Amino acid sequence: MAEFLKQSGFFGTHATMGADLSQLMAAVFTTLFVIGWLQARQRQGHVHHWLMLSGMIAMLAFFTSYYLFRSLGVLAFEGKEGFGGSEALYHNVFIPLLTFHIMLVVIGIVMAVYMIVLGFRSQAIVEGKRVLRDALLQTSWGKVGKIFGSIAAVLVGLFLWRVATAGFSVRKLEVYLGFVILIGIVFAVEMAIQRIWPNGERRHRALGLFTMIVYCVLFVTGSLTYTMLYILYPGKIG
Ligand code: HEM
Repeated sequence: MAEFLKQSGFFGTHATMGADLSQLMAAVFTTLFVIGWLQARQRQGHVHHWLMLSGMIAMLAFFTSYYLFRSLGVLAFEGKEGFGGSEALYHNVFIPLLTFHIMLVVIGIVMAVYMIVLGFRSQAIVEGKRVLRDALLQTSWGKVGKIFGSIAAVLVGLFLWRVATAGFSVRKLEVYLGFVILIGIVFAVEMAIQRIWPNGERRHRALGLFTMIVYCVLFVTGSLTYTMLYILYPGKIG
C-alpha cells in the first residue's frame, strides 16, 4: 500500500498517487458536505442528518488511515527538498499557508466529532420530521469533568500500554499529552460556547455554519498547497 501511494499520480502533475488521492477525496468530501448544508437550509433535517453523519465518519476514517500510511506533507515540514520555489517564497508564503492549513485540519477534525454529538443532542422528531429542538441544552461542569476524566484515563491507560509493549519515548509522551491537552481545551471552549448559545438549536445552526466555512477554507488552502508543491514549484521529491 505504501509503495502504491508513492507511484506517480493520476492528475498528470508532479504529485504522487497518495497526494492525488487525497486531493480527489478532499474535493469529494467538500462537495458532499456542501450538499448536506444545502439540505439543512431547505429544512430537510432527515437527509441532512444521514449525509453529514455518514460523510463525516467516512472522511475521518479515510484521512486517518491515509495519513497513517503516508506520513503526509511531513515532507513539507521535514525540509525544503519538496518545494522547488525560492527561499523567500518558501518561508513567507508556503510555510504560513501550510501551517494555517494544518491548524484548520485540527479544528475540522474536532468540529466533525463535535457536530455529530451536538446533532444528536439537539434534535427531535416532530410529526415524523427531524428538527432541531428550540430548548436549553447545557452541560454542568461536574458532568464535563467526569467525561474529561474518563477520556484522560483511557489515554493514560493507552500510553502505559504502549510504553509497556514498545518502550518509553519522549515523542510518545508528547503525542498522548498533546491529546489530553487538546481535549481539555476543546471542553473548556465548549463550556464557553454553551454560555454564548445556551439554546441547542441556535448552537447547532451557528457552529454548523462555522464548520462549513472551515471546510470550504480547508479545501481552498489544501488546493493551494497542492498547486504550489506539485504544479508551480515541484521539488526534488514528487
Ligand atoms: C456533522 C456535521 C454537521 C454540520 C456541519 C451541520 C450543519 C448544520 C447547519 C449549518 C444547519 C442550519 C442550516 C440553516 O438553517 O441555515 C443545520 C441544521 C440541522 N441539523 Fe445539522 N449539521 C451537522 C450534523 C448533524 C447531525 C449529525 C444531525 C442529526 C443527528 C443534524 C441535524 C440537523 C437538523 C435536524 C437541522 C435543522 C434542519 C431544519 O432547519 O429543519 N445535523 N445543520
